[in-house]
Amino acid sequence: MRLRRPLSGFMAALAFSACLSASSAADKKAWITIGDAAFRQVRPLLPGVVPAESRQLGGGGQKIHAVSVPENELETIAGALHQRLRQCGGFVFHNTEAEARAALHPMPATSASLTYAIDHRELVVPVLAQMSDKQIETTILKLSGFTNRYYKSSSGVDASNWLFATWSEMARGRADIAVKQITHTGFPQQSVMLSIAGSEKPDESIVLGAHLDSILVSRMSDTAPAPGADDDASGVASLTEALRAMLEGQYKPKRSIHFVAYAAEEVGLRGSQDIARSFRQAHSKMVGVLQLDMTNYKGAANDIYLFTDYTDSKQNAFLAQLVSTYLPDLKVGYDQCGYACSDHASWQAQGYPTSMPFESSFARDNPAIHTAKDTFANSGGQALHALKFARLAAAFAIELGSAETSAENGGLRKQKARRVSTRRALLNN
Ligand code: BES
Ligand code: ZN
Repeated sequence: MRLRRPLSGFMAALAFSACLSASSAADKKAWITIGDAAFRQVRPLLPGVVPAESRQLGGGGQKIHAVSVPENELETIAGALHQRLRQCGGFVFHNTEAEARAALHPMPATSASLTYAIDHRELVVPVLAQMSDKQIETTILKLSGFTNRYYKSSSGVDASNWLFATWSEMARGRADIAVKQITHTGFPQQSVMLSIAGSEKPDESIVLGAHLDSILVSRMSDTAPAPGADDDASGVASLTEALRAMLEGQYKPKRSIHFVAYAAEEVGLRGSQDIARSFRQAHSKMVGVLQLDMTNYKGAANDIYLFTDYTDSKQNAFLAQLVSTYLPDLKVGYDQCGYACSDHASWQAQGYPTSMPFESSFARDNPAIHTAKDTFANSGGQALHALKFARLAAAFAIELGSAETSAENGGLRKQKARRVSTRRALLNN
């Protein structure tokens, strides 16, 4: 296993186990699901902890365990996994045992039926043309200017309020757009969601997401600096620019498009799980979900890496097609996290098609994330890389927002064929 920021193994184990034993009196339990590689690393430090259930997920996926742990140890575990064991993966938080066990049995796949055609160039091209890296830069600087955006801190709440006010202002005067903050149990940071109601099929949805929160792994506190400029102010800023350009261009989708900034991703995908679960519980028809988590640090040769695990391969192929159509100068690569590394996994667990276009290969991502050094300057001091992802997100939203369903498509094709044969018949007469 390659360690991200190698510590002396002995020192790290000592610090880790000291933290665990210091609070072993705690009896409030939390539930997590955790990959086998990560679990094997923390197991020696969690004496007596035995998985309630374990299951091999997906094709070549690793074994995942549902484990109950003392709630006040979660941050220590998160810190240790983020810092030492990132190559092994993080963990996903669950409120109850039932939720943790349910995560081992993902919901059957479901999606609104459509063919991934690219045929709305007249709508997409003008929107992409007026997008700018400068707007993205402004948003990254604003978000990374909060002391931190930690899910429990007051500045984490302020950041959510700022984004809510900003998106509300952008949507002013549009009766078809609603902006809301979503409350989660157990922490004060709210997710933010802006929804454009579809004009023809409002019950079919497209979701574009990024996470609002940030974290400092070494010594998190209310006042610790965690700018999270790349992780993930860049994703929120890319989405905000896609939104700005779509609104400026007066784009009106047939289907509903939701822009979401999730709370509490860094501590086990907590905000996105709530939201994805409520879409599924409402039997919402999902066309597609896109996650932007880290878009502004170009660490590897290709421009956009499509992550192939916890995502949908057909939708990923569609994204690659969107790049070759609308961003033909860009090079697409493929890679994977190897674990449920961001909010796309919450949607995938609910059976919805997701994708996660990423800034670099996994191994060559931004080395400053989760530290006080994750600043705009340290992602290159410009937002040109993030602009590529903003454009891809807008192309994805517009093509899917205006796409015909496969039935309509078939119908249209049949109609066209009928028209051609009628014309031929007329010509032959
Ligand atoms: N942005 C990261 C995920 C990431 C980091 C992807 C580097 C690719 C390269 C995300 O915010 C994160 O830190 N996720 C956690 C897991 C989560 C379930 C708590 C992680 O990777 O440890
Ligand atoms: Zn992130």
